Amino acid sequence: MANLGRIVSVSGSLITAVFDQPVVQNEVGYAIIDDLRLKAELIRVRGDYADLQVFEDTTGLYVGGQVEFTGEMLIAELGPGLLGQVVDGLQNPLFDLAAVSGYFLERGRYLEPIDRERRWAFTPRARVGDAVRAGDTLGSVPEGEFEHRVMVPFGLTGWLTVKDLIDGGEHAVEDVVATLEDERGRSHEVTMLQRWPVKLPIRAYRERLRPQEPLVTKIRIIDTLFPVARGGTSCIPGPFGAGKTVLQQLMSRHAEVDVVVVAACGERAGEVVETLREFPELTDPRTGRSLMERTVIVCNTSSMPVAAREASVYTAVTLAEYYRQMGLDVLLLADSTSRWAQALREVSGRLEEIPGEEAFPAYLESVVAAFYERGGLVALRDGTQGSVTIAGTVSPAGGNLEEPVTQSTLKVVGAFHGLSRERSDARRYPAIDPLDSWSHYPGVVPGADVAFARALLRSGNEVAQMMKVVGEEGTALDDFVRYLQAEYLDAAYLQQDAFDPVDGASGAERQALVFGELVRMLRSPQPHADKDAARRFYQHLTQATKEWNRAPWGSPEFDAARERVHSLAEVTEVHAHA
Ligand SMILES: Nc1ncnc2c1ncn2[C@@H]1O[C@H](COP(=O)(O)OP(=O)(O)O)[C@@H](O)[C@H]1O
Ligand SMILES: [Mg+2]
Repeated sequence: MANLGRIVSVSGSLITAVFDQPVVQNEVGYAIIDDLRLKAELIRVRGDYADLQVFEDTTGLYVGGQVEFTGEMLIAELGPGLLGQVVDGLQNPLFDLAAVSGYFLERGRYLEPIDRERRWAFTPRARVGDAVRAGDTLGSVPEGEFEHRVMVPFGLTGWLTVKDLIDGGEHAVEDVVATLEDERGRSHEVTMLQRWPVKLPIRAYRERLRPQEPLVTKIRIIDTLFPVARGGTSCIPGPFGAGKTVLQQLMSRHAEVDVVVVAACGERAGEVVETLREFPELTDPRTGRSLMERTVIVCNTSSMPVAAREASVYTAVTLAEYYRQMGLDVLLLADSTSRWAQALREVSGRLEEIPGEEAFPAYLESVVAAFYERGGLVALRDGTQGSVTIAGTVSPAGGNLEEPVTQSTLKVVGAFHGLSRERSDARRYPAIDPLDSWSHYPGVVPGADVAFARALLRSGNEVAQMMKVVGEEGTALDDFVRYLQAEYLDAAYLQQDAFDPVDGASGAERQALVFGELVRMLRSPQPHADKDAARRFYQHLTQATKEWNRAPWGSPEFDAARERVHSLAEVTEVHAHA
């Protein structure tokens, strides 16, 4: 028998229903209008009353109407065929949905994200009689560039014995591929399709490891100065238009990961449309084909109902954890988490909870922390490792980093890439501020060189500030040279031309070599006759270094450009000594 409740109030997307059979916090319910069933999530129980947040426009819902409780949490469907998809927060495949109901998505229409008809070539990876646990591999099917593991369902507990396993062949996702027996002798049929509650982390690994190895993004200012670790977390706050989305697109293309999951929470509807248009056009530098082949996009706009917006971040991180469980490195990009936090604020406001700072719920900090904790590097039971690296953007109003979302995020992430309006206005891209940003992770170059570079940048900035007051004439030659050196390091190394095929992506070895040489040059004091001579010198050096950046790694042009930089540095020394 269906568990039914009766609607007693409707307030925006929040409905309250009375019920008589048991209900569960966070279970999914359907609000019913005639033959429409609108998906909702139970977000609070008070006595006999259940508050539900409807994932869609609630027009037409009425007091006295019915709610059907399902007893199931909001889940994600997991299995082969997810890569390349664009889905909404409830994992409805948007392009399929559009094909069925046009671009104005129909209410109450939900589609399965995973194709039930498609057949996959199954290869067994375990044997009858094996003892297995949740998350262990039973078989695999090829998907894109890698083997998609078919795993013991994450919800099964304890040891299980493989009683039956198919030999192989072409199978659809709902075909039974294995039968397992648990410790109590109960039998479980396994298919390639899993369902997992999006708000619960998948914890089917052996142990969590400390993220220590750099995840190379090929963006110099990140890898060299403010690295992100494989399985680590980073926060990218920045005002509107500072380059958050472009930076995430660069990371998605160039970061050394297997799978990219994008949670696109639009500031405006137009931005998500942009993401949807631009992303499929990005080419994968590794394969030359579409980057979408190893990407999943979960998107929503601020015009979508609040609960769907809230859900999208959880759906995205669940997909990321699923691929990690296959021993893959996953990058989860959340853009922007501020929109997600605003959804939390709206829900909390409707529930009339006691608000915290700036009307965000008092539990904002713990929700943000729980989200970033779902990232991480894990050791699987078969000895392989998988990782979910999370990079979340924050768009603080007026660029004020003191606001609650930025502050909650900064407490839990391992790296901070602050984008500055000043830098983006000056078109110094990527506009990551080298003075404010930080990272707790080790990078691709020696720490002593990083410390030197950061000190130089700071001291160059002090001179620049001072020069604003006393002018160039009032500045000592030594100080002026330090200013030029910092500008040089910024222009010739930290800034990177995203549109140049070579400069746009700088490998770890290349960064180590170039940065090492730049620091060596900058460390040995360069004598200059006067400020004009110094200025000319750094102008030439900047030009030569930029050319070097555009020369392909390992090519004769690379060696020639490197030679020019070296000789330029030496020539001036000769002049100065003469
Ligand atoms: N790395 C970059 N290289 C060149 N142009 C950039 C770069 N980053 C941002 N821009 C420019 O700034 C604009 C806004 O960037 P965007 O990432 O959309 O900002 P945000 O997401 O912070 O609002 C882009 O359309 C582009 O013209
Ligand atoms: Mg953006």
